[in-house]
Amino acid sequence: MNLNVDNELMKKIIVAIDGFSSCGKSTMARALAREVGYVYVDTGAMYRAVALYCYRKGWMSPDAMDEQQIAEQVGSIQLEFKLRDDGNADMYLNGENVETEIRTLEMSNGASRVSTLGAVRRELVRQQQLMGLKKGIVMDGRDIGTVVFPEAELKVFLTASAEVRAQRRMQELLAKGETVVYAEVLANVKERDDRDQNRSESPLRKAHDAKVIDNTDLTPDQQQDRLRELFLETVTSR
Ligand code: DC
Repeated sequence: MNLNVDNELMKKIIVAIDGFSSCGKSTMARALAREVGYVYVDTGAMYRAVALYCYRKGWMSPDAMDEQQIAEQVGSIQLEFKLRDDGNADMYLNGENVETEIRTLEMSNGASRVSTLGAVRRELVRQQQLMGLKKGIVMDGRDIGTVVFPEAELKVFLTASAEVRAQRRMQELLAKGETVVYAEVLANVKERDDRDQNRSESPLRKAHDAKVIDNTDLTPDQQQDRLRELFLETVTSR
């Protein structure tokens, strides 16, 4: 289905999608954006790129992080999304395409850790808010409906059981040729959930007015139908 909502009658809105890691937020958000002609922004990619930069600079290792350096330098890291021919966007870090490098388990962990830092969150939230000035945007992350766009017209909180998410994550990593063990991936999913929900800076929370989609037992099509329904309800009720 292709919904052309880019016209005078239907004002553009902001769609904020939050939820646990490996829930399929990005796939769902990207598909909606494409259907309705909106811009899609994957904020996790921004935290991942900052983590990659910190690793390269030696400010971060699997068990340590130089918080002061990161806080002082985060404003000078250049992050940019560039559209590919197929309509998807790649993450660029200081002009370099890092889309593949940021998708490893190591960078998932790095992003989760670097995202606990207030200075990093403030800088990335500032950049994300600028991206939404013209609306017509679908943004996914952990704090989009609560911090980045608390006034978003449509907020969705996506969830699924940790076991189902670990299975999906494992398939993705295997497909990329990474050697992974289910128990480790599950432990990693739970560790990230714990960190995302319990950090003091903008912890992952469902916004009070967010609509919940639990996709544990939903097919991708059913999930997309539900999101499309919510989107249409929102734009037509305005
Ligand atoms: O969505 P993802 O797995 O690519 O996100 C990577 C990490 O970044 C995740 O552990 C939490 C963090 N993150 C965040 O704190 N806030 C966001 N808006 C997006 C991601």
